[in-house]
Amino acid sequence: MATSAQRDGFTSTLGVLAATLGSAVGLGNIWKFPALTGSYGGAGFLLIYLCATLLVGLPVMIAELAIGRRARANPIAALKSLAPGRPWWLVGVTGMVAAFMIMAFYSEVVAWVFAYVWKSVEGSALSSEAAVTEGAFAALVSSPWQSLIWQWVVLLLIGGILLRGVSGGIEAVTKRLMPLLFLLLAALCVFSLTLNGAPQGLAFLFSPDFSKVDGSVVLTAVGLAFFKMSIGMGTMMTYGSYFRSDQNIPLTAGRVMCADLAVSLLAGIAIFPAVFTFGFEPTAGPSLVFITLPAVFAQLPFGQALMFVFFVLTSIAAIGAMLSLLEVPVLILHERLGMTRRRAIAVSLLVVGVLGAGCALSMNLLASWRVMGRSLFDLLDFLSSNVLLPIGGILIALFVGWVWGRDAFIAAVSNDGSRENRRLASSLVLVLRYVSPVLILLVMLNGLGVI
Ligand code: PFF
Repeated sequence: MATSAQRDGFTSTLGVLAATLGSAVGLGNIWKFPALTGSYGGAGFLLIYLCATLLVGLPVMIAELAIGRRARANPIAALKSLAPGRPWWLVGVTGMVAAFMIMAFYSEVVAWVFAYVWKSVEGSALSSEAAVTEGAFAALVSSPWQSLIWQWVVLLLIGGILLRGVSGGIEAVTKRLMPLLFLLLAALCVFSLTLNGAPQGLAFLFSPDFSKVDGSVVLTAVGLAFFKMSIGMGTMMTYGSYFRSDQNIPLTAGRVMCADLAVSLLAGIAIFPAVFTFGFEPTAGPSLVFITLPAVFAQLPFGQALMFVFFVLTSIAAIGAMLSLLEVPVLILHERLGMTRRRAIAVSLLVVGVLGAGCALSMNLLASWRVMGRSLFDLLDFLSSNVLLPIGGILIALFVGWVWGRDAFIAAVSNDGSRENRRLASSLVLVLRYVSPVLILLVMLNGLGVI
């Protein structure tokens, strides 16, 4: 079994920020956040999302990071060591299951993004007619081999980066990619703001319309905060275990939250002015990214280059998120089962490959195969986001609030008294005890259709 003396970890404050932000920034920023914000009342939704991140996202993220760093171990071992002889470690197990489930469908969407990077080099899938771009996307999704091969490319790339370790792989790669992501996004924003549809696009994104805000919208915002901040499944515990001892956890989490929000808003500013300029519908999900946007790019000057930049930056966002997802089972297999890192990566990739193939094929060969009325792709998305992540979030909040205890949490967050976060930490304990679990429970019941 690996000992802490041999443990790899992040080496610099900037590296910690890049890796953690890399996990938070992902496909959720590019297609989920802007479209949901626009559809659910602009600034009104934004305000609710901010409250959700402050009351649920940020406290749970800080809790996970603190648990991970205190134990310096994978989520299962961390919870075992902080609550010996009690079953809290099962939260680590559900986290690992959730990581596999998310990777199975997420990796297929990343596969489409990679395929579109290639298509933008070739110049295919670029047409001003939505019917043509729709056909190009349908051709990709309905081809079993194309779906599988692009998914394998994604998995091998992520596995290859992880093979280089935490500092040499995750930290080194995200440190280079995150600034590039901001640069490309800023360039697209500047370009987009010069278009005729800019006022309309910005109005769609920002003008407050509280009439669209109801109970289910509030719950959508809380759910989005969860997925966006990569919490509820041990990802942040895993990364926390790589944090340096002098790292200021609340400050880092706050910075990640703000930068993640900035990426989401910039994505909206880059996308919607262009969409409105050519009279397209601002939809969410695959149809926005793979069907509407290529049709928009086709009508812009330098459209092919812009399409390339957009899909490269979406790939960058997705790579950081995938790295953090795969690292959860890799660390557990490595530390708990004593596998070498190489073997842990191979085994994890195999599991994701098999589950992921099920998702890829659920769009073509296995399209008629339905579980609980859903395709495997939709089922895994539903179960992970609406069941496992919220349960994980509630349990982590309850664990810190009621089991690990106020003093231990305050000591962990204030770097054993050397940092002045004590007052903040004691307020956080109250939020984790009473506010976050209740809010998350509401999200879950809503996700399951109970309320
Ligand atoms: N935060 C990522 C996104 O917004 O796309 C998705 C994600 C990554 C969720 C890592 C969960 C996770 F552990």
